[in-house]
Amino acid sequence: MTAEARGRLSRALAGVAIPLVVVAALALWNPAGLYPWFKAFHVIAIIAWMAGMLYLPRLFVYHCDAKPGSQQSETFKIMERRLLRAIINPAMVASWALGLWLVYDGGWITAHWLHAKLALVIALSAIHGMLARWTADFAADRNRHAQRFYRIINEVPAVLMVGIVILVVIKPF
Ligand code: HEM
Repeated sequence: MTAEARGRLSRALAGVAIPLVVVAALALWNPAGLYPWFKAFHVIAIIAWMAGMLYLPRLFVYHCDAKPGSQQSETFKIMERRLLRAIINPAMVASWALGLWLVYDGGWITAHWLHAKLALVIALSAIHGMLARWTADFAADRNRHAQRFYRIINEVPAVLMVGIVILVVIKPF
């Protein structure tokens, strides 16, 4: 493994491990009034996750117009990689870690709204995985999709988010 790849791997591990360690330490300590604080940070993490999930496919739409090897294409590659690694991945880990703790501490595990919400969140996480794959494809100048495809994909996280927020706030069942 090259030094650059090792550096990337350790940065990725730190991005995952640091939020997990902080959440685990606070969850074990569990001081009074932690629930609303974790809920606030859950919502903050979700805002960061969603911002990236809405922006990355938009970058792909513009990237489709850039000739492979051009300066513009190389700039898009950097923007996509940084957005994914510095924002979207850690925000997703923090959202899941905090959300699962809220499920545990709030005793929500048997609530039907939660089961429906989790189905939509799993779909959102699957889109996240696909975005990571397309980022890697663009990075290797191997994009296989047309601009229209990314325009459609761009709408999916927004639709899922509407369903998720209604389920968790209204709790219809
Ligand atoms: C990643 C897995 C997730 C889990 C396990 C999870 C779980 C939870 C739980 C148990 C609560 C507390 C509900 C309450 O106290 O009433 C909550 C709050 C919330 N979640 Fe999530 N969630 C996740 C992801 C998401 C996503 C993707 C979104 C939005 C796109 C979201 C939006 C919210 C909002 C807005 C609240 C605050 C609701 C309120 O205070 O009324 N969550 N979440």
